[in-house]
Amino acid sequence: MSVRIQVPAGKVPQDGGRSLFEFDDRSVALFNVGGALYAIDDSCPHQGASLCGGRLEGRVIQCCAHGLRFDLSSGYLLNSTKLKVANYPVEVVDGQAFIVIAPEESAP
Ligand code: FES
Repeated sequence: MSVRIQVPAGKVPQDGGRSLFEFDDRSVALFNVGGALYAIDDSCPHQGASLCGGRLEGRVIQCCAHGLRFDLSSGYLLNSTKLKVANYPVEVVDGQAFIVIAPEESAP
């Protein structure tokens, strides 16, 4: 069964915004692109730089460290399936946002 983690109301970004949200030992970067929420691990799969502060263009986040670009909706490196940042579905229920953690990803 997947686990739902509620995002504190103050951590839900406005349209065009972003925020960093921490739970357990993870840092998750949340983005709001045109009203759609995306959640990814705040750790670049290349060398672990923070992605929350990256440059956002549409649904694409560019890592500040070496410039790799990732699609927020799939987590994959642009035009590739070789590198992927962990991403999480976000559900909004009654105005509250939840990050959905799949079972494999919540395993120790
Ligand atoms: S750490 Fe992100 S591109 Fe190198």
